[in-house]
Amino acid sequence: MSALVVTIDGPAGAGKSTVAKRLARRLDYRLLDTGAIYRAVALTAIRAGVALDDEARLAAIAAALDIDFRFEGDVNHVFVAGEDVTAAIRTPEASQGASKVSAWPAVRAALLELQRRLGGSGGVVVEGRDTGTVVFPDAQAKVFLTASDEERARRRMEELRAGGKGADLEDVLREIRERDARDAGRDVAPMRAADDAVIVDSSTMSLDEVVVALETVVRERAR
Ligand code: DC
Repeated sequence: MSALVVTIDGPAGAGKSTVAKRLARRLDYRLLDTGAIYRAVALTAIRAGVALDDEARLAAIAAALDIDFRFEGDVNHVFVAGEDVTAAIRTPEASQGASKVSAWPAVRAALLELQRRLGGSGGVVVEGRDTGTVVFPDAQAKVFLTASDEERARRRMEELRAGGKGADLEDVLREIRERDARDAGRDVAPMRAADDAVIVDSSTMSLDEVVVALETVVRERAR
């Protein structure tokens, strides 16, 4: 099969990460997790004591970001300057921080080139919010994966429980809505489906059903 660029965009908790990973494995493609890049910028800023509204310094961090992805078994490990930050970028603080830093135009501009360099050669599943609209507008297969906010909160609760952490459903739902509003409401590259994206609502679909649906889309486009 030809080496396409496949983009998967959509809100937090729609299942993008799991689906993107499975799809990449089935197609024997690489996986570019663009959210992890924004998270890495936020983590680096928090550690360095840089305020998350200091656009110029955040952009400098983004421009100098030394990031690398490597599959180890089924986990797509993320390295920043050689340090494995796979777990550190998944804390609630890093999640909210990523959403904040991603709203700054200078940060997005700095990361645009990085993303194109990492994914441009094709044979890649790119996962994020604006990968089909801004980063790879010419991608051959685009998917916008979504689900109701209640369903996304329920899934996130399950994930937390599986990790041995308790949480309040109302808190989780509020966090999801806050992030959605910020990601969709920002001036630059707001989260939205590309005009030529296939929209998949996973609210009532199993993981396997979603992966099969996406694989069908990609194989049709690859012909
Ligand atoms: O997908 P994620 O939860 O790891 O993304 C973290 C944050 O980064 C999310 O709140 C929005 C932002 N983001 C973005 O603005 N553009 C992308 N392509 C990917 C993520």
